[in-house]
Amino acid sequence: MNELKTIDFLNGKYDILLSEAQIQQRIKEMAAEISRDYVGKTPVFIGVLNGAFIFMADLVKRLSIDCEMDFTKISSYGNETYSSGEVKLKKPIDCHVEGRDVIFVEDIVDTGLSVRYLIESMAVLKPKSFKFVSLLKKEETCEVDLNIDYVGFNIPNKFVVGYGLDIAQKLRNLPAIYVLNED
Ligand code: PRP
Repeated sequence: MNELKTIDFLNGKYDILLSEAQIQQRIKEMAAEISRDYVGKTPVFIGVLNGAFIFMADLVKRLSIDCEMDFTKISSYGNETYSSGEVKLKKPIDCHVEGRDVIFVEDIVDTGLSVRYLIESMAVLKPKSFKFVSLLKKEETCEVDLNIDYVGFNIPNKFVVGYGLDIAQKLRNLPAIYVLNED
């Protein structure tokens, strides 16, 4: 099936920002870089639900190292398109991370509040190391000084959907990423 170039949804028009091919190519490169950095180690990948589920699945399939996986769920957006400013823990990390190499997997870093929350949570859980991988990063809106170790694409400060990212819990299943046309 041909990839849709535009989508109309809930009175909004969305234009394609990153095609399925572009996303998959970049994930291949990121997986190779992570595999090189963690050679001989067995990191625990912790996906941040819900948005990261598709990216995490595609990323780990392309790794050449052993790894383990777990998920946590935090939320700051609810059904809104802007951050509430308060991060709520919906599902804690289940696996034992003390002394382990942890890699958090995010679909997008926007304000950076979710990442800051996760960094703070690591003080108690005492991993050997922790890093962040995010498919997308909005450069202009990061409130805190954050170093995201592996970034797929830096994107403009616009609302995006698809490939795990939702509007009112919908459109997460799109294989490409679309940006709201504000004209
Ligand atoms: C989104 C996204 C990131 C977070 C990034 O999650 O998946 O986890 O927001 O935003 P921030 O940098 O401003 O904290 P959301 O709370 O919308 O939940 P979802 O993943 O279930 O859609």
